[in-house]
Amino acid sequence: MREPDEVDRTALQEARERLRSADRAVALTGAGVSAASGVPTFRGEEGLWRDYRPEELATPDAFTEDPVTVWQWYGWRRRTVADRDPNEGHGALARWTLRRPGGRLVTQNVDDLHQRALRAAAGADPIPDHARAVELHGSLFRTLCTGCGRRRESRERIDVSGDDDLPLCGECGELLRPDVVWFGESLPGDALDAAMEAARRAEVCLVAGTSAAVQPAASVASVAADAGAVLIEVNPEPTPLTGRADGVFRSGAETILPALLDDDPPPDGPRVPGS
Ligand code: OAD
Repeated sequence: MREPDEVDRTALQEARERLRSADRAVALTGAGVSAASGVPTFRGEEGLWRDYRPEELATPDAFTEDPVTVWQWYGWRRRTVADRDPNEGHGALARWTLRRPGGRLVTQNVDDLHQRALRAAAGADPIPDHARAVELHGSLFRTLCTGCGRRRESRERIDVSGDDDLPLCGECGELLRPDVVWFGESLPGDALDAAMEAARRAEVCLVAGTSAAVQPAASVASVAADAGAVLIEVNPEPTPLTGRADGVFRSGAETILPALLDDDPPPDGPRVPGS
Protein backbone atom coordinates (compact mmCIF):
# COMPACT_ATOMS: atom_id res chain seq x y z
CA MET A 1 0.00 0.00 0.00
CA ARG A 2 1.20 3.50 -0.73
CA GLU A 3 2.21 5.69 2.10
CA PRO A 4 0.37 9.00 2.19
CA ASP A 5 3.38 11.11 1.26
CA GLU A 6 4.43 8.90 -1.62
CA VAL A 7 3.57 10.58 -4.90
CA ASP A 8 3.87 9.63 -8.53
CA ARG A 9 7.06 11.15 -9.97
CA THR A 10 5.63 11.63 -13.49
CA ALA A 11 2.42 13.22 -12.20
CA LEU A 12 4.45 15.51 -9.96
CA GLN A 13 6.71 16.58 -12.84
CA GLU A 14 3.73 17.23 -15.13
CA ALA A 15 1.90 19.27 -12.53
CA ARG A 16 5.07 21.21 -11.66
CA GLU A 17 5.55 22.08 -15.30
CA ARG A 18 1.96 23.29 -15.63
CA LEU A 19 2.19 25.37 -12.50
CA ARG A 20 5.56 26.87 -13.35
CA SER A 21 4.79 27.72 -16.96
CA ALA A 22 1.35 29.27 -16.45
CA ASP A 23 1.35 33.07 -16.33
CA ARG A 24 -2.33 33.23 -15.47
CA ALA A 25 -3.08 31.05 -12.50
CA VAL A 26 -5.45 30.89 -9.58
CA ALA A 27 -4.97 29.05 -6.29
CA LEU A 28 -7.95 28.32 -4.04
CA THR A 29 -7.09 27.35 -0.49
CA GLY A 30 -8.98 26.15 2.57
CA ALA A 31 -8.42 25.18 6.17
CA GLY A 32 -6.29 22.13 5.31
CA VAL A 33 -3.42 24.41 4.25
CA SER A 34 -3.21 25.68 7.83
CA ALA A 35 -3.65 22.26 9.47
CA ALA A 36 0.11 21.65 9.74
CA SER A 37 0.42 25.01 11.51
CA GLY A 38 -1.88 23.67 14.22
CA VAL A 39 -5.04 25.53 13.18
CA PRO A 40 -8.02 23.14 13.35
CA THR A 41 -9.97 22.51 10.13
CA PHE A 42 -13.74 23.02 10.20
CA ARG A 43 -15.01 19.61 9.28
CA GLY A 44 -12.35 17.56 11.06
CA GLU A 45 -13.06 16.26 14.57
CA GLU A 46 -10.87 18.96 16.10
CA GLY A 47 -13.16 21.60 14.52
CA LEU A 48 -15.40 21.18 17.56
CA TRP A 49 -15.23 23.84 20.26
CA ARG A 50 -17.00 23.17 23.57
CA ASP A 51 -19.38 20.76 21.79
CA TYR A 52 -20.44 23.39 19.24
CA ARG A 53 -20.04 22.84 15.52
CA PRO A 54 -19.01 25.90 13.45
CA GLU A 55 -22.41 25.83 11.71
CA GLU A 56 -24.06 26.53 15.08
CA LEU A 57 -21.96 29.57 15.94
CA ALA A 58 -21.01 31.13 12.60
CA THR A 59 -24.44 32.61 11.91
CA PRO A 60 -26.03 36.04 12.36
CA ASP A 61 -28.80 34.43 14.47
CA ALA A 62 -26.30 32.85 16.87
CA PHE A 63 -24.63 36.26 17.30
CA THR A 64 -27.96 38.01 17.92
CA GLU A 65 -29.03 35.41 20.47
CA ASP A 66 -25.73 34.88 22.26
CA PRO A 67 -22.94 37.31 21.32
CA VAL A 68 -20.94 36.31 24.41
CA THR A 69 -20.55 32.67 23.30
CA VAL A 70 -19.86 33.66 19.69
CA TRP A 71 -17.18 36.17 20.79
CA GLN A 72 -15.67 33.55 23.14
CA TRP A 73 -15.29 31.23 20.16
CA TYR A 74 -13.71 33.94 17.99
CA GLY A 75 -11.48 35.05 20.87
CA TRP A 76 -10.23 31.45 21.15
CA ARG A 77 -9.67 31.21 17.40
CA ARG A 78 -7.79 34.53 17.31
CA ARG A 79 -5.52 33.37 20.16
CA THR A 80 -4.96 29.98 18.50
CA VAL A 81 -3.92 31.55 15.21
CA ALA A 82 -1.82 34.30 16.80
CA ASP A 83 0.26 31.59 18.50
CA ARG A 84 0.88 29.70 15.24
CA ASP A 85 3.22 30.27 12.29
CA PRO A 86 2.80 29.82 8.54
CA ASN A 87 4.03 26.40 7.35
CA GLU A 88 5.97 25.35 4.25
CA GLY A 89 2.76 25.20 2.22
CA HIS A 90 1.97 28.87 2.93
CA GLY A 91 5.60 29.72 2.15
CA ALA A 92 5.61 27.95 -1.23
CA LEU A 93 2.28 29.55 -2.21
CA ALA A 94 3.59 32.97 -1.21
CA ARG A 95 6.78 32.65 -3.29
CA TRP A 96 4.83 31.28 -6.28
CA THR A 97 2.27 34.10 -6.10
CA LEU A 98 4.94 36.80 -5.79
CA ARG A 99 6.66 35.48 -8.92
CA ARG A 100 3.43 35.49 -10.94
CA PRO A 101 1.86 38.89 -11.72
CA GLY A 102 -0.98 37.12 -13.56
CA GLY A 103 -1.75 34.93 -10.60
CA ARG A 104 -4.21 35.21 -7.73
CA LEU A 105 -4.18 33.52 -4.37
CA VAL A 106 -7.80 33.11 -3.24
CA THR A 107 -8.50 31.80 0.24
CA GLN A 108 -11.48 30.78 2.31
CA ASN A 109 -9.29 30.98 5.39
CA VAL A 110 -9.88 33.71 7.91
CA ASP A 111 -6.52 33.16 9.60
CA ASP A 112 -3.78 35.53 8.47
CA LEU A 113 -1.18 32.87 7.69
CA HIS A 114 -1.10 33.50 3.92
CA GLN A 115 -0.57 37.21 4.55
CA ARG A 116 2.19 36.54 7.08
CA ALA A 117 3.92 34.15 4.66
CA LEU A 118 3.62 36.73 1.88
CA ARG A 119 5.18 39.43 4.07
CA ALA A 120 8.02 37.06 4.97
CA ALA A 121 8.59 36.06 1.33
CA ALA A 122 8.49 39.68 0.11
CA GLY A 123 11.14 40.59 2.71
CA ALA A 124 11.73 44.32 2.83
CA ASP A 125 9.72 44.88 -0.37
CA PRO A 126 6.06 45.85 -0.25
CA ILE A 127 3.67 43.07 -1.28
CA PRO A 128 2.53 43.91 -4.82
CA ASP A 129 -1.24 44.27 -5.24
CA HIS A 130 -1.58 41.14 -7.37
CA ALA A 131 -0.02 39.01 -4.63
CA ARG A 132 -2.32 40.05 -1.79
CA ALA A 133 -4.49 37.09 -0.82
CA VAL A 134 -8.14 37.50 -1.83
CA GLU A 135 -10.07 36.75 1.37
CA LEU A 136 -13.44 35.32 0.40
CA HIS A 137 -14.63 34.76 3.96
CA GLY A 138 -13.15 37.81 5.69
CA SER A 139 -10.57 37.91 8.47
CA LEU A 140 -10.41 36.95 12.15
CA PHE A 141 -8.24 40.01 12.66
CA ARG A 142 -10.74 42.66 11.57
CA THR A 143 -13.87 43.82 13.34
CA LEU A 144 -17.06 45.23 11.83
CA CYS A 145 -19.29 47.59 13.79
CA THR A 146 -22.94 46.47 13.87
CA GLY A 147 -23.92 50.14 14.28
CA CYS A 148 -21.85 52.36 11.98
CA GLY A 149 -20.42 49.62 9.75
CA ARG A 150 -16.80 50.69 10.33
CA ARG A 151 -14.18 48.03 9.65
CA ARG A 152 -10.98 48.02 11.64
CA GLU A 153 -7.82 45.90 11.87
CA SER A 154 -7.87 44.31 15.29
CA ARG A 155 -4.99 42.33 16.80
CA GLU A 156 -5.54 42.78 20.51
CA ARG A 157 -6.65 39.90 22.72
CA ILE A 158 -10.43 39.70 23.06
CA ASP A 159 -11.45 37.79 26.20
CA VAL A 160 -15.18 37.95 26.79
CA SER A 161 -16.61 36.51 29.98
CA GLY A 162 -19.99 38.25 29.96
CA ASP A 163 -22.14 41.03 28.48
CA ASP A 164 -20.06 43.69 30.23
CA ASP A 165 -16.88 43.01 28.29
CA LEU A 166 -18.25 42.55 24.79
CA PRO A 167 -16.12 44.62 22.36
CA LEU A 168 -17.73 47.95 21.42
CA CYS A 169 -17.05 50.41 18.61
CA GLY A 170 -14.73 53.28 19.56
CA GLU A 171 -16.70 55.59 17.22
CA CYS A 172 -20.37 54.92 17.93
CA GLY A 173 -20.37 52.61 20.97
CA GLU A 174 -22.33 49.81 19.28
CA LEU A 175 -21.41 46.13 19.40
CA LEU A 176 -18.50 44.94 17.24
CA ARG A 177 -18.61 41.62 15.41
CA PRO A 178 -15.83 39.69 13.67
CA ASP A 179 -15.48 40.79 10.03
CA VAL A 180 -16.07 37.30 8.70
CA VAL A 181 -18.75 35.84 6.45
CA TRP A 182 -21.31 33.81 8.37
CA PHE A 183 -23.63 31.15 7.02
CA GLY A 184 -26.49 32.80 5.17
CA GLU A 185 -24.47 35.97 4.43
CA SER A 186 -23.13 37.12 1.10
CA LEU A 187 -19.44 37.10 0.31
CA PRO A 188 -17.72 40.49 -0.06
CA GLY A 189 -18.50 41.48 -3.66
CA ASP A 190 -15.04 42.83 -4.49
CA ALA A 191 -13.31 39.66 -3.29
CA LEU A 192 -15.71 37.37 -5.15
CA ASP A 193 -15.38 39.44 -8.35
CA ALA A 194 -11.58 39.33 -8.16
CA ALA A 195 -11.63 35.57 -7.56
CA MET A 196 -14.04 34.83 -10.40
CA GLU A 197 -12.20 37.06 -12.83
CA ALA A 198 -8.94 35.26 -12.02
CA ALA A 199 -10.73 31.91 -12.39
CA ARG A 200 -12.12 32.76 -15.83
CA ARG A 201 -8.68 33.84 -17.09
CA ALA A 202 -6.62 31.07 -15.49
CA GLU A 203 -4.61 28.52 -17.45
CA VAL A 204 -4.18 26.50 -14.31
CA CYS A 205 -6.12 26.25 -11.04
CA LEU A 206 -4.53 24.81 -7.91
CA VAL A 207 -6.98 23.76 -5.18
CA ALA A 208 -5.42 22.95 -1.82
CA GLY A 209 -6.78 21.96 1.57
CA THR A 210 -10.47 22.54 1.01
CA SER A 211 -13.38 20.12 1.28
CA ALA A 212 -15.00 22.18 -1.53
CA ALA A 213 -18.22 21.87 0.47
CA VAL A 214 -19.07 25.56 0.71
CA GLN A 215 -20.40 27.68 -2.15
CA PRO A 216 -19.79 29.98 -3.86
CA ALA A 217 -16.13 29.63 -2.82
CA ALA A 218 -15.76 26.14 -4.27
CA SER A 219 -17.14 27.33 -7.60
CA VAL A 220 -13.96 29.37 -8.14
CA ALA A 221 -12.38 26.04 -9.13
CA SER A 222 -15.26 24.84 -11.29
CA VAL A 223 -15.46 28.22 -13.07
CA ALA A 224 -11.74 27.92 -13.85
CA ALA A 225 -12.14 24.33 -15.08
CA ASP A 226 -15.19 25.30 -17.20
CA ALA A 227 -13.08 28.04 -18.79
CA GLY A 228 -10.41 25.49 -19.72
CA ALA A 229 -7.94 25.67 -16.83
CA VAL A 230 -5.97 22.60 -15.83
CA LEU A 231 -7.18 21.65 -12.34
CA ILE A 232 -4.73 20.33 -9.75
CA GLU A 233 -5.95 19.20 -6.35
CA VAL A 234 -3.92 18.78 -3.15
CA ASN A 235 -5.85 17.06 -0.38
CA PRO A 236 -5.38 13.84 1.60
CA GLU A 237 -9.11 13.13 1.03
CA PRO A 238 -11.34 13.10 -2.05
CA THR A 239 -13.63 16.10 -2.58
CA PRO A 240 -16.47 16.97 -4.96
CA LEU A 241 -13.82 18.53 -7.24
CA THR A 242 -11.68 15.39 -7.49
CA GLY A 243 -13.58 14.01 -10.47
CA ARG A 244 -12.77 17.14 -12.47
CA ALA A 245 -9.11 17.30 -11.52
CA ASP A 246 -6.32 16.68 -14.05
CA GLY A 247 -3.84 16.00 -11.27
CA VAL A 248 -4.57 14.84 -7.71
CA PHE A 249 -2.04 14.71 -4.87
CA ARG A 250 -3.17 12.92 -1.74
CA SER A 251 -0.63 14.55 0.54
CA GLY A 252 -0.46 17.31 3.08
CA ALA A 253 -0.20 20.78 1.54
CA GLU A 254 2.84 21.48 3.70
CA THR A 255 4.73 18.67 1.93
CA ILE A 256 3.48 18.73 -1.62
CA LEU A 257 3.18 22.48 -2.27
CA PRO A 258 6.94 23.16 -1.97
CA ALA A 259 7.56 20.22 -4.33
CA LEU A 260 5.00 21.53 -6.82
CA LEU A 261 5.66 25.25 -6.66
CA ASP A 262 9.21 26.07 -5.65
CA ASP A 263 11.86 26.60 -8.30
CA ASP A 264 14.24 24.59 -6.15
CA PRO A 265 12.05 22.11 -4.29
CA PRO A 266 13.42 20.98 -0.95
CA PRO A 267 15.60 17.84 -1.15
CA ASP A 268 13.58 16.28 1.67
CA GLY A 269 10.27 16.85 -0.18
CA PRO A 270 7.68 14.12 -0.69
CA ARG A 271 8.91 10.62 -1.32
CA VAL A 272 8.37 9.40 -4.85
CA PRO A 273 8.26 5.75 -5.87
CA GLY A 274 11.74 4.40 -6.44
CA SER A 275 13.48 7.16 -4.50
P1 OAD B 1 -12.90 22.02 5.80
O1 OAD B 1 -12.67 21.79 7.25
O2 OAD B 1 -14.28 21.83 5.28
O3 OAD B 1 -11.96 21.09 4.94
C1 OAD B 1 -10.60 20.97 5.18
C2 OAD B 1 -10.01 20.10 4.09
O4 OAD B 1 -8.61 20.06 4.28
C3 OAD B 1 -10.50 18.66 4.09
O5 OAD B 1 -10.90 18.30 2.77
C4 OAD B 1 -9.27 17.85 4.53
O6 OAD B 1 -9.21 16.57 3.88
C5 OAD B 1 -8.16 18.74 4.04
N1 OAD B 1 -6.88 18.62 4.78
C6 OAD B 1 -6.67 18.24 6.06
N2 OAD B 1 -5.36 18.30 6.36
C7 OAD B 1 -4.73 18.73 5.24
C8 OAD B 1 -3.36 19.01 4.92
N3 OAD B 1 -2.38 18.85 5.80
N4 OAD B 1 -3.09 19.43 3.66
C9 OAD B 1 -4.06 19.60 2.74
N5 OAD B 1 -5.37 19.35 3.01
C10 OAD B 1 -5.70 18.93 4.23
O7 OAD B 1 -12.36 23.49 5.47
P2 OAD B 1 -12.70 24.44 4.24
O8 OAD B 1 -12.86 23.66 2.98
O9 OAD B 1 -11.71 25.53 4.25
O10 OAD B 1 -16.59 29.12 5.99
O11 OAD B 1 -14.10 24.99 4.68
C11 OAD B 1 -14.74 25.92 3.85
C12 OAD B 1 -15.52 26.89 4.66
O12 OAD B 1 -16.41 26.18 5.52
C13 OAD B 1 -14.71 27.71 5.65
O13 OAD B 1 -14.10 28.84 5.03
C14 OAD B 1 -15.74 28.14 6.61
C15 OAD B 1 -16.46 26.83 6.82
O14 OAD B 1 -17.75 26.93 7.18
C16 OAD B 1 -17.14 30.10 6.71
O15 OAD B 1 -16.90 30.23 7.89
C17 OAD B 1 -18.03 30.99 5.92
